Amino acid sequence: MKQEANDRADKSAISRRELLKMGAVGGLGLFLGAGVMKGFDIVDNNKPAASMLTNANGIIPFYGRHQAGIVTPMQDFVCMGAFDLTVTDIAEVRKLFQDWTAASARLAKGEGVGEESNNALVPPVDTGETIGLQPMSTTITFGVGPSFFDDRFGLASKRPSKLVDIPAFKRDELVEEWSHGDIIVQVCANDQQVAFHALRNLARIARGKAVLRWLQQGFQRAGAADPKGATPRNLLGFKDGTNNPNVADEETAKQIVWAQAEDGAPWMDQGSYMVVRRIRMRIEVWDRTALGEQEATFGRYRDSGAPLGATGEFDPADYTKLDKNGKPVIPADSHMAIASMGGKVKIHRRGYSYSNGIDLKTGQLDAGLLFICFNRDPLQQFIPMQTKLAELDRLNEYIEHVGSGIYACLPGVKEGGYIGDTLL
Ligand code: HEM
Repeated sequence: MKQEANDRADKSAISRRELLKMGAVGGLGLFLGAGVMKGFDIVDNNKPAASMLTNANGIIPFYGRHQAGIVTPMQDFVCMGAFDLTVTDIAEVRKLFQDWTAASARLAKGEGVGEESNNALVPPVDTGETIGLQPMSTTITFGVGPSFFDDRFGLASKRPSKLVDIPAFKRDELVEEWSHGDIIVQVCANDQQVAFHALRNLARIARGKAVLRWLQQGFQRAGAADPKGATPRNLLGFKDGTNNPNVADEETAKQIVWAQAEDGAPWMDQGSYMVVRRIRMRIEVWDRTALGEQEATFGRYRDSGAPLGATGEFDPADYTKLDKNGKPVIPADSHMAIASMGGKVKIHRRGYSYSNGIDLKTGQLDAGLLFICFNRDPLQQFIPMQTKLAELDRLNEYIEHVGSGIYACLPGVKEGGYIGDTLL
């Protein structure tokens, strides 16, 4: 408890210090020269961080200005599926999104996907494995990939300029079958069965119109395992999410996450661009690596999560501090040093660990990070960041990117409307 109180105090001190510092430099933008940026990365420490717990059994409304599952505090589990459309008539795509909307609004409330008829001669409407279960903070988030805008549906002219094809990065080991997709559906919930049920039933509704291309489940430590809601740890043992921007602050979220009408695709107003990377960890190699090298790889201490040379998890990183040999205490090629982009570029990370058993060829664990991030403009945020990481990150020795996708996550929907109605 004491440590937690100290951390909180540290965090408050930082935010005040940063506030003053920002005042002194006249307001740093998301990108260099972007002008005054109110609330940028200033953490309101009395509000829960994105990593903190949601009300485990609660209902997160499906309808709203934004889709849920983007700045929503992270639930315990994700079940993410990419679909390819098998129809070519846009009216059928519209119908699919309408059916998915009605089903998702019910699933978020913990209901089955539709009213049951009690007709014993037909299969039930819902598959049944969540009967009697709580809603478990289920969110269902829909997006469309670049291929949605090819010549099948006459939507090519509506493709947002921000929905770029992700370039090939150095060291990519991408597997086509784990990448891309016309549509992405991210289900998050505080129960794995509830999350799987939602995706399974949405896939069932899509039969005859769309097929699953890939599916990946993910997890973090359960809320019950950490009632204090500290920053979760990834499978390499480090706290992950510490320096995520505070997207509970509306202005910060607007700058970093939400697409705006003036960004070039008015139908995407209040949506967001999601990048997914399936990143396999070379766990066995990591496990043989000395603690000092592990900490130098991230630029943080493993136990406390503090930047090297500091004491509290939320202390600012001092990249100018030198050790007795004149070398930076936080190595310049550490993951944190590279990913921080000099403080000029931010993304909102919302990824989960995954574990898919073993790689049958090598007998090694097939596990890693289902990296998920949201940004307003991938061209200025995710892509330059990953370009730099692929080039320089010390972590590259221990990871390989094996899947990739980019999706325009549609704006939120009003009751009576349907997901994608601004586009379709
Ligand atoms: C398996 C792959 C990865 C692992 C294990 C990992 C882990 C971590 C850890 C432990 C931190 C420090 C704590 C924190 O602030 O969250 C961190 C920071 C960060 N990571 Fe990653 N990460 C991975 C991949 C990526 C990728 C692909 C990107 C983006 C392209 C990324 C972007 C960031 C950013 C922006 C920060 C915060 C840097 C700062 O400003 O301090 N990470 N990551």
